Amino acid sequence: MNNYCVIGDPVAHSRSPGMQNAAFEFHGLGSPYMKRHVKPEELAGFAAYARKNLAGFNCTVPHKKAIIPFLDEIDPEAAAAESVNTVLVENGRMSGFSTDGYGLEMALRENFGLSLAGKTVLFAGTGGAASATSFHFARQGVKAILLANRTVAKAEELAGKLRRFAPGIPVETAPLAGIGPFLKRADILIQATSLGLSPEDPPPFDLGLLEQARELVIFDTIYKETPLLRQAAELGIPSAGGLAMLLYQGAKSFELWTRLPAPIEEMRAGMTRNQ
Ligand code: ATR
Repeated sequence: MNNYCVIGDPVAHSRSPGMQNAAFEFHGLGSPYMKRHVKPEELAGFAAYARKNLAGFNCTVPHKKAIIPFLDEIDPEAAAAESVNTVLVENGRMSGFSTDGYGLEMALRENFGLSLAGKTVLFAGTGGAASATSFHFARQGVKAILLANRTVAKAEELAGKLRRFAPGIPVETAPLAGIGPFLKRADILIQATSLGLSPEDPPPFDLGLLEQARELVIFDTIYKETPLLRQAAELGIPSAGGLAMLLYQGAKSFELWTRLPAPIEEMRAGMTRNQ
């Protein structure tokens, strides 16, 4: 059966069903995509179910790494990132991919007309969002990757993996509180901390530092308007929030599953509908 779903814990907020079903409907394939709440202890059972009953699925937090031992094959970029957001099930075999980096790359292209080649990219935050995307960036000919994180040891850990994956790309780290010099050098800032999800969250760093970084473009992986995005708008710095990234990672998932072209505008409209 050609059924699909997104799994997560929590998953209720997911916009993927609306977006994916819009794409399936566009191609006359019905609405086969659901959301499914899977707790960590239920993942093994889900994987066995998926192998027999699904054609594909998306993984969100906290399953992107945990799903890997259940896969038969994994794309090299996803393996290096230890992050899988898309699984293709074919003849009982499960193959894992990461489309988050592609989603972010396309979001930068759509919002700013930017390609990554030759750019210095700064990630503020080196948790799940940065590790899922930075390996893809390392393969797109970036000039350098700068990693700033509250916990520098975690930035160092990611930097070590990136250097092994793409030895030609310089990777540097700094504490988030010392991001100033990186902001002056970077062409693109990716806000990849979890800050901004809740209205009480402080900004990830002193926003006054943006005064000296007006050559930047800023992409916030959070789907809402954050203090960072407001400050960027005030200073006239080109900026965008995370929705386009969600759209393009989903478009790539759809294409991996169906080998059909993803209908981008239908999927964009689908993100805001119920299911
Ligand atoms: P998730 O997978 O939910 O995104 P994560 O992978 O732990 O969570 O990533 C959260 C990111 O936001 C990390 O970079 C985290 O910094 P640490 O590695 O130092 O924990 C960052 N973050 C979360 N709360 C923060 C805060 N109050 N100040 C600065 N950075 C914060």
